[in-house]
Amino acid sequence: MSKRVCVIEGDGIGREVVPAALSVLAALRLPFDYTLAKAGYGCYQECGDSIPAATVAACREADAVLFGAVTTPPDIPGYKSAIITLRKELDLYANLRPTRSLGVPGYREGVDLTIVRENTEGLYSGQEEDLGDVATAKRVITRKGSERIARAAFELARREGRPRVTIVHKANVLRKTCGLFRRTAFAVAKDYPDITADEMLVDAMAMRLIRDPEKFSVIVTTNLFGDILSDEASMLVGGLGLAAAGNIGERGAIFEPVHGSAPDIAGKGVANPLATILAAALLCSYLGEQEAAERLNRAVASVIRDGILPPDLGGSAGTQEVTRAVVAAL
Ligand code: NAI
Ligand code: MG
Repeated sequence: MSKRVCVIEGDGIGREVVPAALSVLAALRLPFDYTLAKAGYGCYQECGDSIPAATVAACREADAVLFGAVTTPPDIPGYKSAIITLRKELDLYANLRPTRSLGVPGYREGVDLTIVRENTEGLYSGQEEDLGDVATAKRVITRKGSERIARAAFELARREGRPRVTIVHKANVLRKTCGLFRRTAFAVAKDYPDITADEMLVDAMAMRLIRDPEKFSVIVTTNLFGDILSDEASMLVGGLGLAAAGNIGERGAIFEPVHGSAPDIAGKGVANPLATILAAALLCSYLGEQEAAERLNRAVASVIRDGILPPDLGGSAGTQEVTRAVVAAL
C-alpha cells in the first residue's frame, strides 16, 4: 500500500532544497504518493494566510510531511508561523535530532546518536509571568508527556537496533519536575528489556557530548535541555547544513531541515541540500522504509567523502551538483 507524503517547500532556500530531496527520493522508487501544499510568507503574500486550512488538512491526511523552511516576516500582528502551527495542530510531541559523523573535514568522527526532545511542555509551556521586578516561568512536566516521549525514544532505539537509551535530567535539583520525568522514563524502560537504560545529569551530558560523543546512542530529555543539547550536538558533525529533524506525534510526523529559509543565499543555487535529504531519510525510516533510509545515509556520506561539498562545508559544489552526486551514489 502506498504512503501519502505531503510536501511543503515554504520560502527562500526551501524552494531549492525540497525539490533536491524530492529528486533523490524519486531515484529510490518508493511506494509514496506525493502531494504539494503551500505555507509560509510567500503563501501569505499570495493568499493572506501563512498556513491555509487546506494545508493543515493535507498534513493531517498524509502519513508524513516533508517541510522545507519558512521566512518569519518582521512585525505582522497576528502572523502565524507555519511550522509552529503545524506542530501544535498535529500534536507533534517528539522532536528527533539525529547526529551522525559523515566525514566532513574538520568535524568529529565516530558520532552516531539521536536526541529525542520533548516538544510540548517543560519550560516552553508558555506560562510566564511578569511581576515587575520578578519574572517567573512555570516548568510543567506531566506523567503523560514524559511517558510518551520516553516511549518514542525506546521505540526509535528498537526500530534502529540501538543498544542504549540515556535519560537526561537534573533531578538532583529539580526534584519534583525532573523527578517525575526520570521516574516515568525508567518505568517505560521496563517494557524494553532488550535496551539498556541509563541516566545522566544534563550538565554532565553537555560536557560528555564534547568529550566522548561516540559513547552515546539515544538521549531522551525534556524540552529546554533537548533544545540546547541538540544544537550543541549538531556542531560536532557539520552544523546547520547537515542538521535534520523529525517532529513526531501519535498520528502524524513532519521531517525538516533544522535551518531556516536563508534569505542571504536564496536563489543563488548554493544552498546545501543535504540537511533536507537527511530529513527525507528520516521520513523513509518513519514510514517503514528502513533500507531506503540507510541507502540514503550511505549515499550522503559517500558524496561527502568524495569531497563534493557545498560552500557551507568548505567546498564549491552547488545545490544541483550535490544533489546529482547523491543520486549517482544511490
Ligand atoms: P537560517 O538557518 O535561515 O540561516 C542562518 C545562516 O546559515 C545563514 O547565513 C544561511 O545562509 C546559512 N544556512 C542555512 N541553511 C543553509 C543551507 N542549507 N546551506 C547553506 N547555508 C545555510 O537562519 P536565519 O538567518 O536566522 O533565519 C532566516 C529566516 O528563516 C527567518 O525568517 C527565520 O525566521 C526563518 N527560520 C525558519 C525556520 C523553519 O522554517 N523551521 C528555522 C529557523 C529560521
Ligand atoms: Mg534551537
